[in-house]
This record gives sequence, structure tokens and C-alpha cells, in this order.
Amino acid sequence: MNWSREFETGIAEIDLQHHNLVKMFNQASSELREDSGRGVWENITHEFQGYALYHFWTEEDLAAQYGYAPEKNAAAVAHFEQHRLFSEEISKIRQRIRSGAHIAKADYLAFLRDWLSQHITDSDRWLVAFVLEKQRISTF
Ligand SMILES: [Fe+2]
Repeated sequence: MNWSREFETGIAEIDLQHHNLVKMFNQASSELREDSGRGVWENITHEFQGYALYHFWTEEDLAAQYGYAPEKNAAAVAHFEQHRLFSEEISKIRQRIRSGAHIAKADYLAFLRDWLSQHITDSDRWLVAFVLEKQRISTF
């Protein structure tokens, strides 16, 4: 997966973390084999889930710092809900791995790729607009 200019948000911390998520996706893509053992799958999915959770926390904390009010922002509530759902999805995959099920590498990568590009180019939009607007106001 290549970094694309449309992924840039203009918020350095978020862009750095998105870059890292894309890098981790590419690492998973080159390290996983169809016949990779359970240990390899567990490590790779655990690392990705851990970093994604850290990234979600950063976004939610950033929104809180700038005084986000859930009752006024349905897009934010939906976005944070997507964080939970993604985390649950990865947990389910990890459970399947632990129970010995075979996960097709292509399916896992397609799931991550779809999620990542959707997360960056769509879900995060409200947050980026919200934070940049607050930053603009605070510089006056
Ligand atoms: Fe994000």
C-alpha cells in the first residue's frame, strides 16, 4: 500500500501515526506467508491492534483537548464507534487464530487495506476539520 497525498491531514501527529499504520500494513504483507504459523499471525495481528488502539486513543484525546461535545457531533460519535468495531473485528480474528483456524492472508490484508483507506480518507475528516478549525481560532 502506497502513501498517497490524499492521506495527508495537516495534523503532524495524526499523519505520522497514519504513516506508521501503512508501514505496519506493508510489513504484515511482506512477513505473512500462506503457511505462517500461529505465533507469526498472533504477533503481527497483536502489533497492529496495539498500534491502532494507541492511534484511536490519540484521536479521541485530541478531540477531548479541543472540547469536543458528543451531543453536538454525531459524526464524532460514529467515528469513535468505528474505533470500537475495528478493535472488536481484530479481536475476533485473533480468537480464530488462537483456536487454530486458518486465516487467508489475502482476506486479512484486504480487510486492513479497506479499513485503513476508509479510516484515513473518510472517518477522520470530521476530526481533522474540527481540530484545524479550533487551532485556527486559537491563533487569533
Ligand atoms: Fe486516524
